[in-house]
Parts: sequence; C-alpha cells; structure tokens
Amino acid sequence: MNEAAQLQGVTGRRAHLPVMLQEVLTALSPKDGEIYVDATFGAGGYSRAILESAKCRVYAIDRDPSTRLLADALARDFPGRFLLLAGCFSDMVSLLAQQGVTGVDAIVMDLGVSSMQIDQAARGFSFKHDGPLDMRMSCDGVSAAILVNSLPEDELADILYMYGEEKASRKIAAAIVAEREIAPIETTAQLAALIRRVVRQSGEMDPATRTFQALRIRVNDELGELERALDAAPTLLRTGGRLIVVSFHSLEDRIVKRFLRPKSEVASRHAMAALVQQQQDSGLALFDLPSGKAIIPGVPETRLNPRARSAKLRVAIRNSVQRAHAEMEP
Ligand SMILES: C[S@@+](CC[C@H](N)C(=O)[O-])C[C@H]1O[C@@H](n2cnc3c(N)ncnc32)[C@H](O)[C@@H]1O
Repeated sequence: MNEAAQLQGVTGRRAHLPVMLQEVLTALSPKDGEIYVDATFGAGGYSRAILESAKCRVYAIDRDPSTRLLADALARDFPGRFLLLAGCFSDMVSLLAQQGVTGVDAIVMDLGVSSMQIDQAARGFSFKHDGPLDMRMSCDGVSAAILVNSLPEDELADILYMYGEEKASRKIAAAIVAEREIAPIETTAQLAALIRRVVRQSGEMDPATRTFQALRIRVNDELGELERALDAAPTLLRTGGRLIVVSFHSLEDRIVKRFLRPKSEVASRHAMAALVQQQQDSGLALFDLPSGKAIIPGVPETRLNPRARSAKLRVAIRNSVQRAHAEMEP
C-alpha cells in the first residue's frame, strides 16, 4: 500500500490531488539550498513534490489542525528539511520569524479547501454530505450555523451576493430568516434543502453551491486572508523570489491580478519615481510577471480532477524597485 493510501486509511478521507502540480514546479524551479513557503499545506502534495525535486527546505503553513498527521509523515521522510507551522498564512512573516527566517526564495499558495475538508461530513463544508453547519478551517471561531442563525436578513443577502455571486440572494436570505424563526438551521442538509425549495435548478449546478461558497468565504475571511498574505509576501521574498498563486474563483483571481498589476506595469517615469518613494516609505516591492496571463490546467488534468477545472495559476517574480527604476533611466 502506498503512503497516500495508508494515510487515507488513517484519516478515513479521500486523498487530495494537488492541482496544477507540474505547472507549480516549473514556476518554482526548486534548487538545492533554497527556502520555500508552502502557505496552504493541505495534504502536502506540493510540499512533498518540492522536497523530492531538490535538497531545499520547506516551511508549510496550514490553519487546519487536522493537517498535522500528514505533516508528521513528511517531517519523518525529509528530516531537517520540513516544518509545518500551524496558523493563518496572513501571519506568514511572524510565523517564519519565530523560526529565525526573514527571507525566502518562493511562496506557493493553493487557495480554498482541500478534498479531505470537503469530504468529511463533520466539517460541514459540503451540501453533498449531511453534517453540522460548521465550515471553520481552523476548527475555532464563528461557525456558519452561528452566522446563518443570527445575522440580519440584509447582511445575509449581501454575503450571498458578494461572496457567492448569488442572484437569488434576497430570496434565500428571506427564506433562511423565516425558517430560523421556527427552528434553528443547524445542519448542511437542512440549509441545502431550504435553498433547493426556493431556487430552481438551472443546468448542472446544485442551487446550494453559491450559498455554501459564500458562507465558507465569510466564515474563514478568505478574501481578507488573501489580501493580507499578498501584502506580506514581498517582505519575505528575496529579490528573484517567486510568488505562485493558484486560485479557484473570480473573486480570488481578481484580488491576485489587481495586487500584481500596478507594481509590474508602471507606465511612466513619474509613476515609477512615486513608486520608489512609496517603497522607501512602506517596503513595497515590485514584481515581474513572466507570463501576463493566468495559466490554466490542461484537459487531461481537468478530466482526472474536476476540482482543477476552475483553477488559475499566476506567477510573479520579486524585483527590486531600485533595479526597475535604474532600467528606466535614459
Ligand atoms: C487546496 S488545499 C491545499 C492542498 C495542497 N496544495 C496539496 O497539494 O495537498 C488548501 C489548504 O489551505 C488551508 N488554508 C486555507 N486558507 C488558509 C489560511 N488563510 N491560512 C492557512 N491555511 C489556509 C486549508 O486549511 C487547506 O488545508
């Protein structure tokens, strides 16, 4: 039995297939002696492949305590070269500083939830499995059930619209409020059934899909986490360091695209001078974008792994703003 199967036996969950692994490795180009951050450890698919590719060191981060078991296996296989740091990736600078690390050669982020989280009914992420309406990646803080049973109707509707792009947000929020006046909504099946009663299915997508995505994003402050992590990345990345982000929906990709664009497409000398000043004031870094467009998975991967269908990979190389400025001199 291979290791993935053994771990599956231990955790009782389907192994997570790493998305766009080859593309991530190509962008990362692992080298002996370098230090990498796998900011979303999950089942460790990226970490393991990176550690196998070169005699490098990997610091992984995950906010889900259940990832510890898989991390321990990796630490045994790559002694002295791998460490899991429990926490949020928005705190990457301080998590790494606690290990005495202030500069790294690449940061990889594979956003969202893992297959193990989705498939475990008790975690409450999925409308396909009945479980408590939880959705907390870190297993602490405010659960989806608390939000659904306590937020004002307008606020619920706004969450569904903003984070789920759900057109029927007002209708669903009204139905939630009516239902919870009778009895609290405590399970994923209860919420999914309610949504299916008020929204008619069009196409293959389950009517509950967008509401579940919206609640998950809100419960875990996923977009805020992403923004803060992107802001933190330049502080850790050395010049030439690679930032690699795999996103799964337009809300995430928009944040990544906007974050990278202004610093890599500085139109004028005047704008560059302003940016140099800004960097001196704030430590802001510039990025080069080796490929302007997002990279998407090939057909064989999307056939094998439906989760990869919506994936978009963006790569940026940390530049030095002084170098970019010098290049603009006549
Ligand atoms: C898509 S999975 C990563 C899978 C991984 N690349 C692999 O190959 O196994 C995302 C992981 O990131 C974690 N995660 C998501 N947001 C996080 C955050 N803000 N801070 C730390 N971990 C986070 C989740 O708990 C989950 O385990």
